[in-house]
Amino acid sequence: MTTPLGKFIRHLPKAELHLHIEGTLEPELLFAIAARNKIPLTYPSITALRDAYQFNDLQDFLDIYYRGASVLLTEEDFYDLALAYFTKAHEENIRHAEIFFDPQTHTVRGVPFETVIAGLHRAQVAAEKEWGITSKLIMCFLRHLDEADALRTLDMALPYKKWIAGIGLDSGEQGNPPSKFQAVYKRAAKEGFFLVAHAGEEGPAEYVTEALDLLNVKRIDHGNHALDDAALVMRLRTQQIPLTVCPLSNLKLRVIADLREHPLRKMIDAGLLITVNSDDPAYFGGYLSENYCAIAEGLDLSHEELRQLAINSFTASFLEEDTKKKHITEINGLSMAN
Ligand code: ADE
Ligand code: ZN
Repeated sequence: MTTPLGKFIRHLPKAELHLHIEGTLEPELLFAIAARNKIPLTYPSITALRDAYQFNDLQDFLDIYYRGASVLLTEEDFYDLALAYFTKAHEENIRHAEIFFDPQTHTVRGVPFETVIAGLHRAQVAAEKEWGITSKLIMCFLRHLDEADALRTLDMALPYKKWIAGIGLDSGEQGNPPSKFQAVYKRAAKEGFFLVAHAGEEGPAEYVTEALDLLNVKRIDHGNHALDDAALVMRLRTQQIPLTVCPLSNLKLRVIADLREHPLRKMIDAGLLITVNSDDPAYFGGYLSENYCAIAEGLDLSHEELRQLAINSFTASFLEEDTKKKHITEINGLSMAN
């Protein structure tokens, strides 16, 4: 990130819209938290754990990711986890983050919902006070579990509604279509939550269509396979439905073989509203700026295209319109100076 391209990207004001807080758990922090919680680990060292981060597909990653998250027990653990992310975010000029958390990953182990949300919320407040970074929480349901579990989780969340902006859908996509979660999305919509869902990461274009038609989502997380359906591409373009694309995640999970083949170029050329994001940066080898850098190098993106991606990140956010405008005006100002 010390190259001219790296510096340019680091200095761009950016929003991050696709980030799993459990996916920011670096091996160093994982070991420290495991030690203080007296949880034995199967890996002998931090290096051995990091070396294990080689994945054949999404499920391969999820197995390690859920095991990693199992060291998180106390409010302090969730606070430390989120504060470590915000510290990074500050270093790379991320001004706003919309952050996923997976409550079921924790409640299934007996960790109260309140412990999770209280720690995350306290870190959000601290980050805004210390660095002016704004953030919103998006509660994801694990799609490999049944809808009844998601409905119970929504019930648990309602007392903390003021701290949760939206709901999402994550975990193993194949065989777990959006149609499985229509009732919980309907209830969440009634409660006023913003709606998003992972779709078209490993799953087919039909899952993207289902997420739009049956869940009424306003943003698609990943959406790579949307390109397989020309009518869907037209719809995404006409309605300017944002896709939160995650280049290094796609590479590490073998959704693509090489960044030079990443569909982001085709998506931009098709007139789609594309954002760049890091997904699970502790596992995929790079935070947000590294994702911008990698895709810029892979697809030979110009400074103007990178500025547009940063602008898109605010446009596609759930911020108020005047706040979006303020960030975008700042980027446009930079555009004239550079
Ligand atoms: N949970 C964390 N990262 C994920 C991803 N990339 N896809 C689905 N579920 C996830
Ligand atoms: Zn994700």
